[in-house]
Amino acid sequence: MGLPNDGARQIVTRMAKQRKAAVPLIISISGLTVEEFVGCYREVEHYSDGIELNISTPNTEGVRVFQESHMLSKLLISLSSIRAAAKPLWVKMPPYFVEEDRENVLELVDVCVKNSVDAFTAINTKRVKEYRSASGFGGLSGPLINEDMLRIVSDIYRQTGGKVSINACGGISSGLDAWRAMEVGASSVQLYTGLVYEGPGVAAKINRELLGLMKTSKVSSLAEVRGTGLR
Ligand SMILES: Cc1cc2nc3c(=O)[nH]c(=O)nc-3n(C[C@H](O)[C@H](O)[C@H](O)COP(=O)(O)O)c2cc1C
Repeated sequence: MGLPNDGARQIVTRMAKQRKAAVPLIISISGLTVEEFVGCYREVEHYSDGIELNISTPNTEGVRVFQESHMLSKLLISLSSIRAAAKPLWVKMPPYFVEEDRENVLELVDVCVKNSVDAFTAINTKRVKEYRSASGFGGLSGPLINEDMLRIVSDIYRQTGGKVSINACGGISSGLDAWRAMEVGASSVQLYTGLVYEGPGVAAKINRELLGLMKTSKVSSLAEVRGTGLR
């Protein structure tokens, strides 16, 4: 969800009403200023079981201002006074491909930990040149960013000493993909491209395949897999 508008409000309230009680609703919000983020947070918090701050959407350049540690810090401090402790807070991280960006993202991770962020989502799409798009850029997703996701989740796990949850996102469409993400430190997984290609049944398929992998690996809980194969 970007800035709160009537369309977004309607979607959020309808989803909140229609979901089954056992299914958590995590709402992803974004903004170009601290005030926009805070305004959006205030609007949706009531309907959600958790909120993700998206500071990495590649198509909205202005959002990247929150990839500067002092700006992210300002945002998290502003949210701290209105945050309900019972509702977990995620931050969605951008991918990185050079050492300088890696250092910057890991600094953001430290800022998040200092400000009691509960979890990270990693990663967003990889920004690539795309002459067919009006903006001249596109976002790469799916299997082509899976290796990057594994490397970055592993880095975040190490940086946080495994103490903060990581939601792995990037090229996951099978139980084995999810298992590998957990080996490098993920505590949950998320998918978009897999859903586009395989439809909603892909979630049940992943769960079935994970159960099979747990059986063959003689593991009784996926928590045992987490962080066992860091890169
Ligand atoms: C069509 C499409 C639209 C997306 N829109 C957004 C978006 O609005 N905001 C965002 O943060 N990420 C967006 N993403 C990125 C996904 O949430 C996800 O981080 C990324 O695609 C990697 O996961 P995947 O490989 O499972 O698709 C989009 C991805 C796709 C394919």
